[in-house]
Amino acid sequence: MTSTSLPPSLIPTLPGEYYTDPEVFALEQERIFEAMWFCVARASELARPGQFRTCQVGGESVLVARSRDGGVRAFLNICRHRGARLCTQESGEVRRAFQCPYHAWTYGLDGKLVAAPNLTSMPDVDRGEYGLVGVHVREWLGYVWVCLAEEAPSFEDEVMGAVVERLGDVESIERYGVGELRVGRRITYDVKANWKLIVENFMECYHCATIHPELTEVLPEFADGYAAQYYVGHGAQFGERVRGFTVDGSEGVDRIPGVAEEQDRRYYAITIRPQVFVNLVPDHVIFHRMYPMAADRTVVECDWLYLPHVVEGGTDVERSVELFHRVNQQDFEACERTQPAMSSRAYARGGVLVPSEHHIGAFHDWVGERLRRPAG
Ligand code: FES
Ligand code: FE
Repeated sequence: MTSTSLPPSLIPTLPGEYYTDPEVFALEQERIFEAMWFCVARASELARPGQFRTCQVGGESVLVARSRDGGVRAFLNICRHRGARLCTQESGEVRRAFQCPYHAWTYGLDGKLVAAPNLTSMPDVDRGEYGLVGVHVREWLGYVWVCLAEEAPSFEDEVMGAVVERLGDVESIERYGVGELRVGRRITYDVKANWKLIVENFMECYHCATIHPELTEVLPEFADGYAAQYYVGHGAQFGERVRGFTVDGSEGVDRIPGVAEEQDRRYYAITIRPQVFVNLVPDHVIFHRMYPMAADRTVVECDWLYLPHVVEGGTDVERSVELFHRVNQQDFEACERTQPAMSSRAYARGGVLVPSEHHIGAFHDWVGERLRRPAG
């Protein structure tokens, strides 16, 4: 069936190969993940100088570390000598330098080459020139974002702009003070599905009535299938008898003081392309980051963020965490059920989107447009 023969209620999805073909994935790594701002870590994971984290951004391993001046620096995690991966741990802390495990070239927290065996006998080697390759880095909402492009796109336009596009203005997220919140819980999900299936799933709520019984109890309007992301500035309202955004609708924890009256008892969802989802409720923020590892595998790290005294005082956040943990499991199970079908001949030309999903078509157009764009 071609798109021209579809009835007006339906629009086509991407063909199945977009979710399985390693060549498409390689192109996405180059033209999406390595070209855009990519969220890598919670800044509090790098609280002290020398604390570091490594992660995969597109096809590259990136090392982010807190430097002595208090700023965060990001580098390609590759030794400039003969290319060994410098840091093999996912996270950790060094005292003052990173030492390559191969021939012991040693780099300061600012990336400069500070020592190497026999370096003094090579006075012509410039230590800055042979330092680690730096990449662009920003901190926002208490997270560290990197960009591997030579010329980074505007953070204000692309990252903050995505929030403005959804909420109408940037103040609407700033009121939650996301940067000052603490991680009350982090759960990492290893999802056997293409990253785009996870984005598409997050953008629509046509599935909510079928797979999210707890969520639709708390947000009854989700049972109608229209996602919060369907309308600009719209937050889904809590059900009348719901007391908090918890698995059983029971009372949540202390409300974030800056949250405006009109934002109270509402749930807002934001997609920051390509790999971040933000969920705002009055007493916490749920922040997802996807790390696409292969065409059919995506690691999702999800943080539940609360006011500092809630986390430090040991308040029980179990029922609050449990709600979105179940939503995550339900969603990722659905994505994993869909992934194998992407290589079926039944899906060679893709599937269809119903009207409440038509906005996903814009995401598909965006992916297609990025992949056609020349690298640069
Ligand atoms: Fe790192 Fe040789 S490759 S010191
Ligand atoms: Fe869902």
